[in-house]
Amino acid sequence: MKACVMTFGCQMNARDSEKIAGILESFGYEITEDENADFVVYNTCTVRENANTKLYGHLGFAGKYKETNKDMVIAICGCMMQEPDEVEKIKKSYPFVDLIFGTHNLYKFKDLVNELFEKREYNKAHPVKKNGKLKVKHALICDVWPEGKPIVEEEPITRIKEDKRKLPFMASVNIMYGCNNFCTYCIVPYVRGRERSRTPEAILAEIKALASDGVKEIMLLGQNVNSYGKTLADPVSFASLLNEVCKIDGIERVRFMTSHPKDLSDELIDVIAKNPKVCRHIHLPVQSGSTEVLRRMNRRYSREHYLELIKKIRAAIPEIAITTDIIVGFPGETEEDFIDTVNLVKESHYIGAYTFQYSKRSGTPAASMEDQVPEDVIQNRYERLMKVVNESTLSETAKLTGKEMTVLVEGVNEENKDLLTGRLSNNLLVHFKGDDSLIGKFVTVTLDECKGFYFMGSVTNSN
Ligand code: 5AD
Ligand code: SF4
Repeated sequence: MKACVMTFGCQMNARDSEKIAGILESFGYEITEDENADFVVYNTCTVRENANTKLYGHLGFAGKYKETNKDMVIAICGCMMQEPDEVEKIKKSYPFVDLIFGTHNLYKFKDLVNELFEKREYNKAHPVKKNGKLKVKHALICDVWPEGKPIVEEEPITRIKEDKRKLPFMASVNIMYGCNNFCTYCIVPYVRGRERSRTPEAILAEIKALASDGVKEIMLLGQNVNSYGKTLADPVSFASLLNEVCKIDGIERVRFMTSHPKDLSDELIDVIAKNPKVCRHIHLPVQSGSTEVLRRMNRRYSREHYLELIKKIRAAIPEIAITTDIIVGFPGETEEDFIDTVNLVKESHYIGAYTFQYSKRSGTPAASMEDQVPEDVIQNRYERLMKVVNESTLSETAKLTGKEMTVLVEGVNEENKDLLTGRLSNNLLVHFKGDDSLIGKFVTVTLDECKGFYFMGSVTNSN
């Protein structure tokens, strides 16, 4: 029996999928990447319209697979299931779906699967009469909670033993759930709920358990990690949590995402600067380079504040790599606003940027703003911005050519099996010749040739 967990969207979803895959394994399924499986879970995203469209494409295929494998289970979870209209559409147009749950009750997944199997058995044993014929009713479990309840903590050992991580030496850890920022374009606060932080004790216990399980690199996850801990009974700052995580023996590297420019504190910059375990990479979404657009996005910082912040970070941590997210075509964005964004990109020396075309999300304040930008204008600005972003990425990456740096070796290169792939502290990838025994180890490599977004390198020291 095989199970496939297909993840759409962000690292939060990727983390949730590890938990889902782990639970499916405990039911005896072998995890595969092939959707034509006995149990398929779509962990959905709804941050932009095209994420929704993608799901419906996959559901079409899943329906076909189920025609030849009648006992197949098709489950859908994640952010899109927090939207009642989408759930209704699925129930109506994709009646073969068996299990629907949301972002707040993932920890109940095991119970929901058991419930589904029990219901199936019951329905098989109790066929109903339809048009004079006996028919087995379709068993559907649909359990979506509108709001998040207080965080349910499990024993760290149980948690990490069950999770199915891609690599044994790297792990992501949720430090908080939800978001309170209500950027006017964003659906996340509606589908992931209000901000809730886990206690430092629970987080540190989990990371200690991970370290004793051989994990060397940790990614701390939250929609807005900089506001971590503010709502706890005993408030703590993200900077102090990060500092504590770095003290854990066996943990050699710590990453975090995502940071909000309005909340990134001097204390955090100081902790990163002083602590070599913290990776030299900050993802700092700017969204727009125009103060007026930022105001309407409810980002609560100005262009000047953002540029100052970047200056401050670079002064304290000169080797830092900064990446960002940018939205083009937010309602009311003028050509001048857009040029402000282009110029900000040029000034910020990003090593990478995710650029998005504004996508209207129903229920968000921006969806009903006047002056929605026409699609062709958005497309044109998007293409112009991509050019500038690519130039920035190429020139910032190329600056590192010839340097000797440390990678954590992640595995054999997927395209060329003769090569290994490792990740630098600044998050760039390096491909180089080496023995499989180096996987999971820190290795010093020389960055021989810049290939745009990654490097070809050679091992200098593998002790
Ligand atoms: N349209 C386009 N991009 C969006 N993002 C969030 N909401 C939208 C939207 N409605 C982008 C932001 C965010 C990233 C994860 O997705 O840039 O940082
Ligand atoms: Fe969305 Fe803004 Fe929260 Fe990020 S900070 S999840 S963009 S509302």
